[in-house]
Amino acid sequence: MKSEKALYGIIGNPLKHSLSPVMHNTAFKELEVDAEYRLFPLDEDELKGFFDELKSPDSPIFGFNVTVPYKEKVIQYMDHVTPLVEKLGAVNTVVIDKDRKLTGHNTDAPGFLAQLSEIKFTTNGKRVAILGAGGSARAIVGALCMISDRPDSIKIYNRTESRLDALLKDLGERIDVSFVEPVSYVDDLNVELADLLINTTSVGLKEDDIPLVDPDMLHSNLTVYDLIYNPRETELLKDAKRCGAKAVNGLGMLFYQGVLAFQHWANVQLDEEIKIKMRVALEEALRYE
Ligand code: ATR
Repeated sequence: MKSEKALYGIIGNPLKHSLSPVMHNTAFKELEVDAEYRLFPLDEDELKGFFDELKSPDSPIFGFNVTVPYKEKVIQYMDHVTPLVEKLGAVNTVVIDKDRKLTGHNTDAPGFLAQLSEIKFTTNGKRVAILGAGGSARAIVGALCMISDRPDSIKIYNRTESRLDALLKDLGERIDVSFVEPVSYVDDLNVELADLLINTTSVGLKEDDIPLVDPDMLHSNLTVYDLIYNPRETELLKDAKRCGAKAVNGLGMLFYQGVLAFQHWANVQLDEEIKIKMRVALEEALRYE
C-alpha cells in the first residue's frame, strides 16, 4: 500500500457502514496531523498478506482498529498484547511502533464502561441480562467480571448455546466468571427482575427484526442498552421507551472506544473540545446514513 500520508484505519468484513473514519479523520483535522483513517475491508484469505505487508519499513500504516470477524484471529499476529487483551482474548486496536512491532489493545471493554459511567449506571449489586455471545459480548462480559463494582448476577442467552459455553470457558481460564449464568431460553434471563439488559446481537440491525425479548418483560426500572446505533433506535429500544425504561444505543461505546484507540496511536490525551467534535461528527454522519 502506498501513501504520502501516515495511514490508520479499520480491518474487518463487512465495513461499508463503519462510522469510524468520520470520527478519526475529524480528530486528525483538528490536530492538524497529516494522516488519514481508511477502511481496509479484508477477506479471511487476505489477512495474512495484510499483516506481512505491515512489517515492511515502507508501510504507511501506523495503527488500526479491528472489527467483526477478526478481533480474536488477529492476536496471533501481535508482537505484544496488553494484560487486558490477554484476559479478554480480543483485540480491537493495534498500535505499530517505529520498529514495526505490533501491540494489540482492547478499548471496547473500557469504552463500554465509560458509556455506563456517562449514563450514570452503577453496576454494583445489580442484575444484568445479556443477549449474545459474539465478539462484543466477550468485551462486555469480561469488563463486567473484572470491575470492582461487580454486578450481583449476570445471565446470558445466546441462540447458539455451544458458542456461549465456549465463551465462558475461554474467559473463565483467565478471569472469574463464576457469577455468570448461561441460560438456554430468553425467558430464563428474568428480564422482569433485571436492572440492565444489554443487546450485543445483530438482531435489530434490520428495521423489521423482531426483538429477542418480549416487550412484556420490560419495565420502568430497567436500563436497556442496545449496542446497535444504526438504526439509532431499534425496536427493542422503542419497546423500552414505551414502557418507561431507560433506552441507550451503541453510539456512546463506539465513541469512547474510538477516543481511547486514537489516544493509543497519537500517544496523547485528547482535549475535551476535540472529543466533542469527534462525537458531533459521529452524530451527523449517522443522521445522513
Ligand atoms: P459481534 O462482534 O458484533 O458480537 P458476532 O461475533 O458476529 O458479532 O456475534 C453476533 C451475535 O449476534 C451472536 O451472539 C449471534 O448469535 P449466534 O452465536 O447464535 O450466531 C447473534 N445473532 C445474530 N443473528 C441472530 C438471530 N437472528 N437471532 C439470535 N441471535 C443472533
